[in-house]
Amino acid sequence: MVDSHKLIIVLNNLLPVFIFIFGFTSSWETPRLTEASVGRRTLATDQTHPGFISIDCGVEEDYLNGETGILYKSDKGFINTGENHNVSSSASANNYYIETWKENRNLRSFPDGNKNCYTLKPELGKNNYYRIRASFLYGNYDDKNEIPEFDIYVGVNYWDTVKLSSAWYMLFLEIIHFFTADTEYVCLVNTGSGIPFISALVLRFSNSSFYNLANSGAALKYIMAIDLGTSNNDSFRYNDDDYDRIWLSRQFPSSVPIYTSLNFYKPDYDSNKVPAEVLRTAVKPVNGSRSLNYFYQSSGSPTSQYIVFFHFAEIEESAQYRLREFTITLNGFRSEPITPQYLRPGSINSKDLLVQGVINFTIDATEKSDLPPLLNAIEYYQFLPLPFSPTDPSDGDAIMAIRQTYNINRNDWQGDPCLPNEPSWSGLICRFNRTPRIISLNLSASKLTGEISSSFSDLLAIESLDLSYNELKGKVSEVLAQLPTLKVLNLSGNKLSGSVPRSLKDKSDKGLLVLSLAENPDLCQIDPCHHKETRNFAVPVVVSVVSGLVLIFLSILIAFGIIKRRRQRELLIKSTKDGSFESKNRPFTYSQIVKITGNFTTVIGEGGFGKVYLGTLNDNTPVAVKLLSPSSKQGYKEFRAEAQLLMIVHHRNLVSLIGYCDECGNMALIYEYMVNGNLRQQLSETNRNVLKLKERLQIAIDAAHGLEYLHNGCKRPIVHRDLKSANILLTESKQAKIADFGLSKLFITENASHISTCPAGTLGYIDPEFQVSGNLNKKSDVYSFGIILVELITGKPAIIRSHERSIHILQWLSPIVQKGDIRSIIDPRLQGEFDVNAAWKMVEIAMSCAQPTSIQRPDISYVLTELKECMAIEMALERTQRMQNNMTTSGKSVEMSIANVDSDMVPIAR
Ligand SMILES: *[C@@H]1O[C@H](CO)[C@@H](O)[C@H](O)[C@H]1NC(C)=O
Repeated sequence: MVDSHKLIIVLNNLLPVFIFIFGFTSSWETPRLTEASVGRRTLATDQTHPGFISIDCGVEEDYLNGETGILYKSDKGFINTGENHNVSSSASANNYYIETWKENRNLRSFPDGNKNCYTLKPELGKNNYYRIRASFLYGNYDDKNEIPEFDIYVGVNYWDTVKLSSAWYMLFLEIIHFFTADTEYVCLVNTGSGIPFISALVLRFSNSSFYNLANSGAALKYIMAIDLGTSNNDSFRYNDDDYDRIWLSRQFPSSVPIYTSLNFYKPDYDSNKVPAEVLRTAVKPVNGSRSLNYFYQSSGSPTSQYIVFFHFAEIEESAQYRLREFTITLNGFRSEPITPQYLRPGSINSKDLLVQGVINFTIDATEKSDLPPLLNAIEYYQFLPLPFSPTDPSDGDAIMAIRQTYNINRNDWQGDPCLPNEPSWSGLICRFNRTPRIISLNLSASKLTGEISSSFSDLLAIESLDLSYNELKGKVSEVLAQLPTLKVLNLSGNKLSGSVPRSLKDKSDKGLLVLSLAENPDLCQIDPCHHKETRNFAVPVVVSVVSGLVLIFLSILIAFGIIKRRRQRELLIKSTKDGSFESKNRPFTYSQIVKITGNFTTVIGEGGFGKVYLGTLNDNTPVAVKLLSPSSKQGYKEFRAEAQLLMIVHHRNLVSLIGYCDECGNMALIYEYMVNGNLRQQLSETNRNVLKLKERLQIAIDAAHGLEYLHNGCKRPIVHRDLKSANILLTESKQAKIADFGLSKLFITENASHISTCPAGTLGYIDPEFQVSGNLNKKSDVYSFGIILVELITGKPAIIRSHERSIHILQWLSPIVQKGDIRSIIDPRLQGEFDVNAAWKMVEIAMSCAQPTSIQRPDISYVLTELKECMAIEMALERTQRMQNNMTTSGKSVEMSIANVDSDMVPIAR
């Protein structure tokens, strides 16, 4: 069996039968039959290879490969991290892969850092196609005999997972990739299953118009290039092949080989550069048959898409006087008739054909053909989607400049700053829209010296910049005030001098910026600088040698002037603060909190951290004020981290933070007020306004959007850890927003112990795995979300209490689901007004989320897609009903009778 997307070369014995996959598209590229030279063996030794990069990972010195004439380089200049190793000598003798590929004798491993990236900068630059091939041979280099598993990325996109089936096989992964920038990264990402390593990494210039990937957002993943009709097991590569493809010889079912020793005509076109050695052999059907059949089944995803290249050249002399004509039928799509030309190579590919899932092709002789078909070689590739774009180039350039200016040598500062999402640059937070932007940079205590670099002001999307506790000297640059979205600027603990630019102070005074300048002994906190100003005035006075009295008099005047100005400013600040509500995330004083809440009169909720009060801002905007009981230090720390986090986490389905107060142990968060309370209240039996299924679905979709943002939209996944219907709040229009995501200790930090030390969650919603592992992760949130879905469907609470006992909602639900009794499941108050299919689908989604083990639960993104489909079904029903209602008036009574039946049938929890 051939693995769909990677190939382990297993000493030519594993692939006796061709199993194929093809997709089909609407057009075939017509064969371009041209002349090809072949038989010519390039003299590699005297060639330079401008389009080649060859890294033999783990060697100390560069060397010339005698067989291919290619210069192999050490890792130097491509990567700074990692360590060199040799494969274990004990078993390397007589190993085919090590003897044939010298590159496999050593490797570079990456015990440190989650992401280690090679930087590839080919001489020929961007807007060209390159093949990138990474090879791996573990060879028990670390004497642990444990084969690691890890991910490989091309640039910011997932390429593959490196899974080796044996310690002594070579695995190579190859793609054809169109470079849109001069530099590309290949990153190895530690996924917690062993230390990543690599044996060799090569890049080969491979321009061919056949690939046509320029704007496709995809690369082509090599699955196989097959040289047909060979009698030996030779595999060809450079310098038989200009692109250094690796051609394998494989048997073709029900075929006989044919061969020529003649040379081909020289190609004058952009051919696929199939080596002559490969084209000289071909297969044709066994005697009596007029077709060749091939089938490939991928072990990968059934939605994987493929592109197939067929290579033909007439090599039978007799065919010059007779007609050989055939068609290719690939997954049911038939090509135009093809006639290969004598000793002229031609290629055809399934270019625009959607070749997906199981693939099947037949090459049949046409009726008028004198000869059976032939096939010289095939290549097939899988489309590798490259959905993510790299970080915004100006942000990227700015952070690279900052890295260089301050000579920041962090192991994880490699590759793209924002992507891949999970192991990212430490101290950096990005926002992921179409192009990732850097929104937070924390270089606190990073030994930065010199002045504040102007590159910081090129980070135009930045919201939080922390440069505290470094050795920064010189002035605070005015340009920092021009950063449009900067909300937090921490420069404390440096050696900055001079005065603080007015513009920065103004922003801070208006509450637009949280500015920290403490512990800069030489920095003047008041602007204009106090003694400086005195001196400026004093000089002319002294020069004119007027009496000291004048000096004193002047000083008094100046002092008055300053005091007066400061008064005015304070008043100004006050009126802005109390007045219109212009800035989000603004700091409030405790006395303002007292005023807003009318001295804490109306309690509207209570959570783990304290009570929630109703408040009113000066402009009558109602707000919810969460006051944190000043208890543990832990709480304080989290609150602060939280306030900062909330400032940069924004989503329409997360309750947004309006401001916060952090004053001498009094801590409060001010949120937007949600008129319709929480979902639990809405679903409770005492609520008169019954939510329709459509509304419930919309709430589920809203909440899933919010959760998806927390899980997948932020640089580090944020785990809510206390998702429950009481934390889903509803606006006036019943738009749902997730609340409390700040306070329930969220971030997954690198410090894993942090997670387990903080018990979180609410009975009924806690991931059953938490009891075992003590660990809450994204999938724990998915579990809780599943429970909320069940609540939405059934209207029942997570813990169903009755006189005798309390049971978990799943204990009640599961047996009914098994019986398939949907009408007993659905909230009876819906009175049958729903589409049964939509309801079933919702139940299925809920059950998949609420699986007992996290591995069985889907990602929230998947859940969201499913919920949307569910909504589409429900909406379709609504449309139909509306049409029916327009036609008949009897609908109502029918619905009523269903409703009666329903409420009789639904068991109340006992
Ligand atoms: C920056 O990192 C330091 C140390 O890790 C931390 O104490 C500080 O709170 C961080 N600053 C911000 C704005 O997150």
